Formats: sequence, C-alpha cells, structure tokens
Amino acid sequence: MIDTEAMQQAIEVAAGVRGTTSPNPWVGCVIQAEDGRVFTGATQPPGGPHAEAVALAASGSAARGSTAWVTLEPCSHSGRTPPCADALIEAGVRRVVIGIEDPDPRVAGAGIGRLRDAGVEVEIGVEASAIRTQLAPYLKHRVTGRPWVVLKLGVSIDGRTAAPDGSSRWITGGAAQADAHRLRAHSDAIVVGANTVRVDDPSLDVRHVTGSDPLRVVLGEAAVDARVQPALEFHGPLTELLDQLGQRGVLQVMVEGGATVAGDFHRQGLVDQYVFYVAPVMFGGSDARPIFGGAGAPSIGEVWRGAFTQVVPLGGDLRIDVMAASEAGATGTLPVGRSADAASTGGADEDRFGSPSAPFSTESRPGEEIN
Ligand SMILES: NC(=O)c1ccc[n+]([C@@H]2O[C@H](COP(=O)([O-])OP(=O)(O)OC[C@H]3O[C@@H](n4cnc5c(N)ncnc54)[C@H](OP(=O)(O)O)[C@@H]3O)[C@@H](O)[C@H]2O)c1
Repeated sequence: MIDTEAMQQAIEVAAGVRGTTSPNPWVGCVIQAEDGRVFTGATQPPGGPHAEAVALAASGSAARGSTAWVTLEPCSHSGRTPPCADALIEAGVRRVVIGIEDPDPRVAGAGIGRLRDAGVEVEIGVEASAIRTQLAPYLKHRVTGRPWVVLKLGVSIDGRTAAPDGSSRWITGGAAQADAHRLRAHSDAIVVGANTVRVDDPSLDVRHVTGSDPLRVVLGEAAVDARVQPALEFHGPLTELLDQLGQRGVLQVMVEGGATVAGDFHRQGLVDQYVFYVAPVMFGGSDARPIFGGAGAPSIGEVWRGAFTQVVPLGGDLRIDVMAASEAGATGTLPVGRSADAASTGGADEDRFGSPSAPFSTESRPGEEIN
C-alpha cells in the first residue's frame, strides 16, 4: 500500500471510534502482511486494547515482516494495557509508519525510540496535518491539561438566540439538531448556564444519533428535579472549570449557552471552535437575545477575527464553523465536521443508549459541586 493511502485508511478507522475512548486518543492502525492481506484496528474504550493491539490480534502470525501504519506514536509505557511499541516488536512488524508523535509526557518519542532500538524501520509524519486536526482535542489536552472547547449556538440569520420571552426552541430544524447531538456524542462534557436550565429545562443527553451521554455541568445551580440532573454544579472562574475537567480526563467540552455563558467563554479567549447552526429565521428586532451577552468590542479595531473552517447545509439550515485565525491555520480543517448526509433526523428519545465512555464517572448526586 502507498503510505498516504494506508494512513488515510487508518484515519478513517480512528474516526469510527470517536467519542468512545476518552481520556485516551482515538487512534487507527492498518497492517499489511507480506502476502498483501490488510488488517485494521482502532482504540477500544478505556481498559481495552489500543489500535495496534487490535490490528495485531486480527493479523496474528501474518504480522511478521509486515508494515503497520498508525496515526499516533505507539505507546511505550504500561498503563491499563501493555506498551504497543513492544507488541509491534514482538509480533515481528518490519516497518512502522507513524502519523504524529504523541505529546503525552509518558510517550513523547519513547515509543519511536523503542521501535528503532529494536531494529524496526520507522517513518514519521505521513498525513500529519490531517491527524493533528483529527486529534486536536487530545493534543490540546495533553499539552495544556485543558479540554478542547466547542461553543455551539443555534442562531437566527439576524444573529439572535432567543425571543424576548426567553423561548428559543427550536430555531433550527431536525438535521441541525441531529448534527448537534453528534457533537454532544463526541464531547466528554457539556456546559450550560443556570438560566438556560431554568428557562429551557434541557436534558442535554444524546438523542437522534448513536452515542454516549456526556458529563453534564451547570454553571450555577440546577433544581433537583431539573431534567439535566444528575449534573455537576460549578461556581467559579471558567479557567478553573476547564482545569478541573481536564483533570477528570475530559478531552472535549461543548458549551451550549446561553448568551451570558457564551459571552464569558468568548471574551476570555477560551473557545477553540465555534459551531453556529444558522436558520433562515428572523426575530426582526433588537429585543431578542443576542449570541453573546455583555459588552463586546468597543471599536472595530478590537473585534475578534477568525476564519470559516467549514460551511455545511443541514436540511434548511447551515452549520458554520469558525476558529481563531491562528488556530485555523495550525489545525487546518475541522476536527469534528460532518456532512449533512451523515446527519440523521430521527427524533425519538428511545435511540439514545449507553453509559459514559470515559473512565470518569458521570454519576453524581443532585447538588454535587466540583468547585
Ligand atoms: N439558541 C441557542 O443556541 C441557545 C442555547 C442556550 C440557551 N439559549 C437561550 O438563552 C437564554 C438563557 O441565556 P442567559 O444568558 O439568560 O443565561 P445563561 O447563560 O444560560 O446562564 C447564565 C447564568 O449562569 C450562571 N453562571 C454563569 N457563569 C457562572 C459561573 N462562572 N459560576 C456560577 N454561575 C454561573 C448564573 O446563574 P445565576 O443567575 O443563578 O447566578 C448566570 O446568571 C434562554 O432563553 C435560552 O433559551 C439559547
């Protein structure tokens, strides 16, 4: 196989397990045996085998003399599973092609060193840009200790998020809602303001698509019988919240508003990725709620500038993704983009399933706080 094509296949395999591996990265591995047979593997939920181990198990003795393409540097430390670098060596893999190095301090080049020391031919950097985009939440978490922050808002084309009476359901249609639920399924936690809980009483679970419910975090307090319960209630600085979520192994957090919370995250520069679901709806006046509450840039010279990284039609709506210009350049395209085709518009509550994939527990008692 050609290196780029094999690595693209590994990236695809990794995409299939997105949202199920936190706090571990979602990694893909492709192994081609000397006789041409191809085997694949992706990271299993925490405690389960890593991508390389899954592909090696599938290939069995055919791994001897093979080439392996793996999106992230194989680990070199024993955690809940044995080191993948050792497994590749023991299986007799001749050549390992790695997408990007793992910044996790427990790996950080040690996996590559171990392979080379054992005489395995190693190449690094194939499809690196695409993999940095795919793994952006993981990479940010391992480098900064904080999760990747996605701010999601459903907005009218005239830039409003709720009517003057507070009602905001539903600005967008079924396809946009299904896509937003996929974003939830890819997130380990959801943050929402106490006023949104009071006004909308959202359940913030994953419906319309297959996926696990994220940890729910309310800024402020939620009533004991609020549908968001069980939720963590947080009081304090948002930077502290992100530090705490990072410590819990949250790789991606989705902020779902309202305008007060959105404005606070935005003005503090804490958002990595803005996802606007824009509907051809107009409130038609300045009394409807804006996207961001609070005072914004006082003059045009101080406006926040970013780059569109994706525009996707979703039914009658649009999904528009925006990132800070510097970040968009660094990561290329989006880590979570999905086409309209991928979004289903099912509406039943019954299709939600599963328990949290991450090792931290979402089990919390009503009223429990993390600060
Ligand atoms: N279109 C959309 O996508 C969308 C999404 C979500 C919500 N909405 C709409 O937005 C409206 C609500 O927005 P909103 O701006 O009024 O309120 P909000 O942003 O939902 O919540 C603000 C409240 O959260 C609490 N809070 C925020 N930061 C905190 C912190 N760091 N520590 C402790 N507590 C904190 C405070 O609660 P206390 O007041 O209790 O102190 C604050 O008043 C609703 O009408 C809802 O329908 C629209």
